[in-house]
Amino acid sequence: MPVTTIAWDDGMIRMIDQTRLPGQLIYLEIRDIPTLAEAIRSLRVRGAPAIGVAAAFGLLLAAEQSTATRPEAFFDELQETAELLRNTRPTAVNLGWALDHMLESVRAARAQGVTAMRTALRQKAMALYKNDQTVNRKLAEYGASLIPDPAEIITHCNTGALATVDYGTALGAVFTAHAQGKKVHVWVDETRPLLQGARLNMWELQHEGIPATLICDNTAAFVMARREISLCIVGADRIAANGDTANKIGTYALALAAKHHGVPFYIAAPCSTIDPAAASGEDIPVEERGADEIVNGFGRRTAPEGARVYAPAFDITPNELITAIITEKGVHTPPFTSSLPSGQKTLD
Ligand code: MRU
Repeated sequence: MPVTTIAWDDGMIRMIDQTRLPGQLIYLEIRDIPTLAEAIRSLRVRGAPAIGVAAAFGLLLAAEQSTATRPEAFFDELQETAELLRNTRPTAVNLGWALDHMLESVRAARAQGVTAMRTALRQKAMALYKNDQTVNRKLAEYGASLIPDPAEIITHCNTGALATVDYGTALGAVFTAHAQGKKVHVWVDETRPLLQGARLNMWELQHEGIPATLICDNTAAFVMARREISLCIVGADRIAANGDTANKIGTYALALAAKHHGVPFYIAAPCSTIDPAAASGEDIPVEERGADEIVNGFGRRTAPEGARVYAPAFDITPNELITAIITEKGVHTPPFTSSLPSGQKTLD
């Protein structure tokens, strides 16, 4: 990809405003926490790994701007900022995972004073940034090994470079298969209501020169009935210890259709998306979005005033519908309780 989704740039966060794609490629320059929190909430930056790194950079921003001179006061400020950022999007566990890594590093440096704490935060933020790049390449290799040649692939929501620091997860596997010379064609769910598939996947796939066809989400089952589909591959926002997976609303319906048609259904995500504290999908908080995204999406009213709306941003795909979960550690097959790594505690 010739673009950088997010970067730390001399005291500020530079990121693509994904709400403006595909029409405009605009970079935001974020210099304060309220602006960052708004950017995460309104999906200017989105995708579980990307918002994890955005939050880590947020703590760095808070640390650089803090006037606290005592370690305790400095730490309390950071903790407050971390809690604010943690609550911006409740489902993607990478957000809390990255913040916990940052807080842990600053806690460990407490005895050495504020300057050392700042240095520790800077190092950890950069380590998280690099870690995302390396794990994506690794898991994309594992994912590509499951993609036959030729392949007809269905995907849902954006999981490419825009959803991560670089390259992507599920879409990364497709990029790698394509780079290996495999003949791949992607059926792209448009991903209602905010169209991450139509706006972002199609944009990325076009950049990579990968053949792709856009479909409405409710067309996927019919495509499986009428075409020889090789596999579905999607990302994740949180994976429970038993493999139940939270991902963009519509993933569960896609998995059900895949099961019915005998199409393998893969989840591709870094270990940082595994939440060992969630025993099953029941323990995963599901974010609900405002009605406006459904009834007034992109500035056009599509339902009468006063229409009651239910708008979960994610759904939970039960583990029995998942053929395998791909991480940077390999391809994990059921039973996931014993095959899944227990989350990413340390950075490689
Ligand atoms: O609401 P979004 O766009 O942040 O939802 C994103 C997804 O559901 C992705 O599939 C998931 O975060 C994985 S991104 C590599």
